[in-house]
This record gives sequence, C-alpha cells and structure tokens, in this order.
Amino acid sequence: VLSSTPVSPQKLCGHRGVAAQAPENTLASIARVRELGLSWVEVDVQLTQDGIPVVFHDQTLSRCTNGKGVLKDTALVDLQQLDAGSHFSADFAQQRVPTLAAVLAQVHHDELHLNLEIKTYADTDIAALCDAVFDCLSTSPVNERQVLISSFSLDALRYCRDQKPSLARAILWETIPDNWHEFRDLATLSIHCNYRHLTQEKAKSVKDSGLALKCYTPNDPHTVAPLWEWGVDMMITDAPERYLSIS
Ligand code: G3P
Ligand code: MG
Repeated sequence: VLSSTPVSPQKLCGHRGVAAQAPENTLASIARVRELGLSWVEVDVQLTQDGIPVVFHDQTLSRCTNGKGVLKDTALVDLQQLDAGSHFSADFAQQRVPTLAAVLAQVHHDELHLNLEIKTYADTDIAALCDAVFDCLSTSPVNERQVLISSFSLDALRYCRDQKPSLARAILWETIPDNWHEFRDLATLSIHCNYRHLTQEKAKSVKDSGLALKCYTPNDPHTVAPLWEWGVDMMITDAPERYLSIS
C-alpha cells in the first residue's frame, strides 16, 4: 500500500539538521543529513548581539543550551561558551551554537542544498539580519544556487526580493491563506506550509501556479501518505530516516 512505500531521499529535507537524531541546529545534526543520503537541510538563522549570524531557533537560550537570557543580547564569544548539545544527550556536550559561516562550510563540504529560514521575532532588525546573511553567503564557498531563503516574515522576503533578487525564496505559512496569490512574487521556488493545515484544494492551487510545495514538520510518514498524492514535493522533517525505511 502507499503508506508503506519508502520515500526517495530527494523528497526529504532534514529539519534543523536531523533533529530527531542529534541536537537541533548544530553541526552534528547537519552532518546526519548527508549520512542519511539526503541533499536538503533546513536551519534557522538569527543575529547575536554583535551582529553575527548564527544558527538557532528560539529567542531565548534556555531550551537548547545551558545558558540563560536572550540570543540577541548575547555576544558571539559568550554564546560559544555554551553547551548546545546536552539538552539532547550527554553524547553531544561538545556541540556549540554554530555560526552561519560554519554551517555554510559544512553545507559546502557535504554538497547539500540549504533551506535557510530567516527567523524573525517582534524585535528583529530584519534589514540587519538579511544584510548579514547576504554578506556571509557572499564570502562562503557555497554557490548561491544551493541556497533557498525561507521565512514566515513577509517583510524579510520583501527585503530579500528587493536587495538580493538572485537568491531563491520560499514563503512559510502555517496555513496557506485564501488570497495567497497576492504574495506570489515573494516566492520564486516554493510555498512551505504546516502539513496539518494543508487541503487538497490549496495544494492544487500552489502546484497550478508553477511553484513547488513543501510541508513541515511531519514526523510520521504514514500520516502524510495522502499529501504526496496531492502533489506535495517535499517533507521537511525531524525524522527523515522513518521515511526511508517504512514498513
Ligand atoms: O521551515 C519549516 C519550519 O522550520 C518552520 O517552523 O518553527 O520549526 O522554524 P520552525
Ligand atoms: Mg525553521
């Protein structure tokens, strides 16, 4: 039956690295992507207090490190003292919050495609974040064509469209709005949505527009079997290994 068919690794994107197998958004987690035979990885990028782009999801440090406080108020030198792995397992105690530059070096080494989520919160300086990302990309060995910028922030996507139009863009939505086509020019490659809220009608509408459709973050391959039928191109998942060997 459909739900027991293994999925091609080309149709999977590791979420925050492979977050089910290693601490999210660390180099150890990103290393699992290539080890599993995938070619796409998603990570989140934000700025430190001193304006360095780092790969980290939350506003605050407490869930994923042994530090306290707010990422944007923490300088890189202090951030890099923190243990970003023990929250997952003692085996990963050496993991640090990686700079975007370090992540790009690994992406290049592993010949991956990077889904780089511009992670914004209410007080994020969007221009500063995007400019720092552009600078980092321009000095990294990664070919721009291996990178897809994604964001829930339409302002961040507008900034990227206007300032760096050559970078591919994807809009992130929890639920694709009925009027999504009004934002069509903010995406060049794909629309990304929460798999729980996708309907067959919305899937068709996105696919008919010529964009690809990717869903986050389904971790049980059996629950999303119908979504492949609707034309979803890729699942962004913490647990890609479950899709590769379904039984
Ligand atoms: O890119 C999909 C997904 O990462 C968006 O949500 O909160 O996991 O960054 P979040
Ligand atoms: Mg993300």
